[in-house]
Amino acid sequence: MSQVEALPGREVEIAELTRHRVLVSWAAQAGLKHTVIDHAEGSYLYTPDGRRILDFSSGLICVNVGHNHPKVVEAIRRQAGRVTYVTPNFATDVRAQLADALSRVSPRGALVKTLFTSGGAEANENAIKIARLYTGRHKVLASYRSYHGATLGAMTLSGDQRRLAVEPGISGVVHFFTPYPYRSPFGVPPEQETEAALKHLEDVLLYEGPENVAAIFLEPVIGSGGLIVPPDGYLRGVREVCTRHGILMVLDEVMTGFGRTGRWFAAEHWDVVPDMITFAKGVTSGYVPLGGVMMSQPIARYFDEHVFWGGLTYSGHPLACAAGLANLEVYEEQGLVERAARMEVAMREKLGRLAERHPVVGDVRGKGMFWGIELVADRKTREPWVPWNTKGPGRMKELLGQLAARDVYVYGRWNLLYVAPPLTASEAELDEGVSGIDSALAAVA
Ligand SMILES: Cc1ncc(COP(=O)(O)O)c(C=O)c1O
Repeated sequence: MSQVEALPGREVEIAELTRHRVLVSWAAQAGLKHTVIDHAEGSYLYTPDGRRILDFSSGLICVNVGHNHPKVVEAIRRQAGRVTYVTPNFATDVRAQLADALSRVSPRGALVKTLFTSGGAEANENAIKIARLYTGRHKVLASYRSYHGATLGAMTLSGDQRRLAVEPGISGVVHFFTPYPYRSPFGVPPEQETEAALKHLEDVLLYEGPENVAAIFLEPVIGSGGLIVPPDGYLRGVREVCTRHGILMVLDEVMTGFGRTGRWFAAEHWDVVPDMITFAKGVTSGYVPLGGVMMSQPIARYFDEHVFWGGLTYSGHPLACAAGLANLEVYEEQGLVERAARMEVAMREKLGRLAERHPVVGDVRGKGMFWGIELVADRKTREPWVPWNTKGPGRMKELLGQLAARDVYVYGRWNLLYVAPPLTASEAELDEGVSGIDSALAAVA
């Protein structure tokens, strides 16, 4: 049980105040309904009147260690009693130790320095800036199937439809197509996807002038752009292309980092070492906002002699760093990264059963404890159940409503459900979530 005062009888008041006074994300506000949460523990959220909601997407795919882990809560409490803010020019033990630990768990230990931010979008903003300062080049490339954050630069970088409403964004961003074996943008069978995708990237570079390109940004496993696992060889191929042209490879591991896919960072599945990794979410499991950019030795060295033209009031906030350090300890002590890898089999098997029972399930794919269920109107033609880039949630809203009625929270967009429970979730909790999806799919069929 959480220590906070419970809120019995105040649900209506709080929901109303929220509706009147809070502008919430990605929505026209009229008619929004808010479920009030009183406290949370492990895989569950609790409402003031005692409803228990299974969090089957770890919030926005961030609460990796589960809700209100006592060790993390205690670390935040302890830090709050010592120092809650200093300017980033002072040093704190928690920021130094967290940066050191991050470097240790980075792919092959090759990312040696971290710029801390308050979240994922700010991390990507700063990675664009670092890439431009370091290379002296202007352009940055990113996938059409991507989301890198909602600030102007990160939003421009995102291929996602959410970009369209706020265009024009920053200059110099070019999008390209990345592999999607279930529905190849290159019109080739899955075994040719890697080759076709790399050829397409080389073509784009040829027309953009690789000498003008500072960085290529990629989510190693694409998150809210469709949960797409790249075919073997793709990320290594991009690494080779980047190295050959002097372009920096930036992996956005905001969703995939910190054990979500069964490795500390998803890049490790393919033994790829990028020049930078941007991260957020799982670093603190969302307990306190924190993000950052980890960089290679040459980039770090460049800024020994050159000014880094950037800064944030909250670069390495002590409460966030304390939460981050405690999270990393939890990952290690509880073996959560390895557990996520082991649970891949159970996830595939349990979610696979949904495909057997529901023709609307077109594809089930994922890694570790990061899974997507792609819904189709017709299995043969693979016509999406909700067309991609539809304005508004379409039929997905009804499905999410059916899930909510069963006290199961799942993140869904267009024709994708994102199943990403806390890395601590038990098999029984997985079964509970899958059974909720099973029954919700039956209700909307
Ligand atoms: C891959 C990826 N990058 C960046 C972001 C943006 O992170 P934030 O919302 O912390 O700014 C997100 C958020 O969902 C994300 O999934």
